[in-house]
Amino acid sequence: MSERLGILGAGKLGTAVARLAVDAGREVLISDARDDPMVELVVSTIAAGSRLVPADEMFQGSDIVLLAIPYSHLGQVDLGALEHAVLIDATNPWLEVDGADPPESPLRGRRGLRVVRTLNHLAYEDLIAYAEPKGAPFRTAVAVASDDLAARRAVAALVDDLGFDPVEVDGRSAWMLESNGPFFGRRLAREEMSALISASRRADRLTW
Ligand SMILES: NC(=O)c1ccc[n+]([C@@H]2O[C@H](COP(=O)([O-])OP(=O)(O)OC[C@H]3O[C@@H](n4cnc5c(N)ncnc54)[C@H](OP(=O)(O)O)[C@@H]3O)[C@@H](O)[C@H]2O)c1
Repeated sequence: MSERLGILGAGKLGTAVARLAVDAGREVLISDARDDPMVELVVSTIAAGSRLVPADEMFQGSDIVLLAIPYSHLGQVDLGALEHAVLIDATNPWLEVDGADPPESPLRGRRGLRVVRTLNHLAYEDLIAYAEPKGAPFRTAVAVASDDLAARRAVAALVDDLGFDPVEVDGRSAWMLESNGPFFGRRLAREEMSALISASRRADRLTW
């Protein structure tokens, strides 16, 4: 049985991932801070088949939760309510809001959380445009970074379902998905991404 996906944030990224997950046959709960009919309309149009529910219902009912809200809003999330779930952190600091030297994420080093970094290095419209069935040649790769192997494996299976070749890396390599990293905004096939990872490991060894 595939895990139920919860999504916090019914904006551009949240609804794009919801749509891909529903298309893949996943059950999706989505929730947003805004309680207005526009959100309902957006969700029922872009991500038909997902269910818009209050945040606490989504938290309780989801095995994997995608955080698709602004980085600067992470402090608003009741992280204690998420200790049972695998968390996908797709948030990127925004220069205009968080500055050139953003404050540390509240997820970082927080005990009891199982955090996987992924779905942050491609734009939402690229996720929709590049998603392809399993086995498609030159399928777009999406990196999945965490030191929690079971959590990483579950999220890799989700990424595969969404339409991408997952490339698993350890938590130390999560910088590669960031805005100054080699994957950010780039459409890469699995082999190209793996070559970049190997090159970075070789460079690491050279500096020792
Ligand atoms: N857009 C992309 O292509 C893309 C790609 C990769 C990663 N990301 C990352 O994904 C995150 C979302 O980006 P986005 O472009 O989807 O933003 P967006 O379109 O502005 O959507 C964010 C949504 O989250 C809601 N929200 C804010 N705080 C919340 C909270 N505490 N609880 C529940 N909902 C909340 C917002 O409601 P209000 O508008 O009322 O605040 C809004 O509906 C960002 O961290 C971004 O860096 C975006």
